Amino acid sequence: MLILAIESSCDETAAAVTNERHILSNIVATQIEEHRIYGGVVPEIASRRHTEAISQVCDEAVKQAGIEYKDLDAVAVTFAPGLIGALLVGVNFAKGLAFSLGIPLIPVHHLRSHIAANYIENDELEPEYLCLTVSGGNTILTKVKDYCVFEPIGGTRDDAAGECFDKSARALGLSYPGGVMLDKIATVADDKKYPLPYPKIAGNEFDFSFSGLKTAVVNTIHNASQKQEEIDVPVMAATVRKRVCDILVKKTIDAAEHFDYKTVALAGGVSANSELRSRLLFECKERNIKLFYPELKYCGDNAAMVGVQAYYEYKSGNIADTSLNAAATLPINYR
Ligand code: KG4
Repeated sequence: MLILAIESSCDETAAAVTNERHILSNIVATQIEEHRIYGGVVPEIASRRHTEAISQVCDEAVKQAGIEYKDLDAVAVTFAPGLIGALLVGVNFAKGLAFSLGIPLIPVHHLRSHIAANYIENDELEPEYLCLTVSGGNTILTKVKDYCVFEPIGGTRDDAAGECFDKSARALGLSYPGGVMLDKIATVADDKKYPLPYPKIAGNEFDFSFSGLKTAVVNTIHNASQKQEEIDVPVMAATVRKRVCDILVKKTIDAAEHFDYKTVALAGGVSANSELRSRLLFECKERNIKLFYPELKYCGDNAAMVGVQAYYEYKSGNIADTSLNAAATLPINYR
């Protein structure tokens, strides 16, 4: 089933042609350079750039797949969650295209597609399993009961792990996207030099909180600067990374043991983090748990993962019509 998938939820305009779990083409037009001067994504600029890039990106995806538009069986699009103006560009383009070609339109939830990135290179992965999805705007632990059936067991009560990385990186003077830079320059953590807090959360033990940690990092850096003391940037970066990974790894392993999962997956932009991958792999191996994570090129936003999830959405009857709208927020287990 040939699907043209479109992704425009944040700062990448992406299109891919997929056939079930196989990727025929995968085009990503990134806006990173443009947003870098502002230290983060400017939503209005993102929407405008999507509008300019989308038709060329789709043309390129179809061309690189070696097909023509008339060969497509369906059009899929990320419709939620994300920046509303950015999402609307993809949704409206996809609606027009599907309508003009007379083929189905498949709406895809952004976090579901991040999870589906795991299916691309891992033929043996199939539900049921536990998944930690960590990105710039979300941090959730979910039971993946089936390809389109999700049961969240915990999530962040405030900031996402990616937000904590990005704002810490900004305070350290690293350029956008901060999480990537922070991971690159981090050396060895020093908890004594920079004692950062562990969040204390009442209630659901699988919930997360990163705002206190983020504030502690920013305050430590600002206090040092007021006293004209130097921050050891690579060590601070490593200490933040270690603390975020302490939290993510512990909760994921605790949840896997609590619910007796022998298969765990990692998804979202932050799943590219080197320490998170290696530590979770180590802890999983110790417990005979099989860990899956996406190839680095499929960790960040891309349309290949949208096409793969779309195939399963289509099979489960999730098809939209031209009344499809975008949504800035939507739970992963929406109906
Ligand atoms: O999934 P994604 O591309 O976009 C969203 O849907 O949010 O995730 C972007 C997030 C950003 O916060 C970025 O800094 C973070 O993923 N990120 C990383 C790494 N690579 C990307 N964070 C830590 N270490 C990395 N290597």
